[in-house]
Amino acid sequence: MSKTALIVGATGLVGNNLLPLLLENNGYEKIISISRKSLPFQHPKLEQHLINFDEIENHTHLFIANDIFCCLGITIAKAGSQENFYKVDHTYVYQMAQYALQNGANQIILISSIGADKNSSNFYLRTKGQIESDLIQLHFNKTIIVRPSMLLGDRTEFRFTEALGKPFMQALGILMLGPFQKYKPIEAQTVAMAMLKLAQTNADKVKIAESDELQKLGLN
Ligand SMILES: NC(=O)c1ccc[n+]([C@@H]2O[C@H](COP(=O)([O-])OP(=O)(O)OC[C@H]3O[C@@H](n4cnc5c(N)ncnc54)[C@H](OP(=O)(O)O)[C@@H]3O)[C@@H](O)[C@H]2O)c1
Repeated sequence: MSKTALIVGATGLVGNNLLPLLLENNGYEKIISISRKSLPFQHPKLEQHLINFDEIENHTHLFIANDIFCCLGITIAKAGSQENFYKVDHTYVYQMAQYALQNGANQIILISSIGADKNSSNFYLRTKGQIESDLIQLHFNKTIIVRPSMLLGDRTEFRFTEALGKPFMQALGILMLGPFQKYKPIEAQTVAMAMLKLAQTNADKVKIAESDELQKLGLN
């Protein structure tokens, strides 16, 4: 049976790599993208909706698909406050997951982060851990959580901390062996491919894939 995939965050680094994979995949007959900015192209399989996520409750009818891919996110620096960060990385994600589930979605595939932990003293990691835990509690037939390390790929915007950290992490990555492999920076394209593969092969009700597993899955 051919299915529908829904993607939020298709304008971002990972989402931008995932969307073409979904469009090319024969397992999906329709791809719905919900974002606040329009995508720079059209495709016969693509249905695009622009919404203000602060008014997401007015758009519940749009969240109808079998598989929900969530690539939404913002940095605390860009959000301007922890409160605004939480709104994007937790509130919006949770709301859209609830609507999709009520509308009959089968599975959700979420990009979280390496180190996500709802008990962490770090606000970013705690928020990521909380959304993981809250999505699991919604009881989709399948919940897939991917936890990438630092993302590599071409961004249109300049991020100061990434510009500083990436060369260092990439150089250090060569030394990251054995249990440290999950800390190696990972290409956004590899994460996107791993998300699609997991959506189509994973049999577990709850699956959490760390960055080293994503690396293997996304490259094979
Ligand atoms: N960067 C890293 O190294 C790293 C490492 C581990 C995990 N992660 C996580 O991986 C996920 C994807 O990261 P990424 O680098 O691909 O993200 P990104 O490039 O910043 O893209 C984020 C997406 O979220 C959307 N978004 C942000 N704020 C929004 C708002 N207020 N309303 C509607 N949409 C909004 C963006 O839309 P617009 O285009 O409209 O802004 C974009 O589509 C994030 O959850 C991030 O926390 C990142």
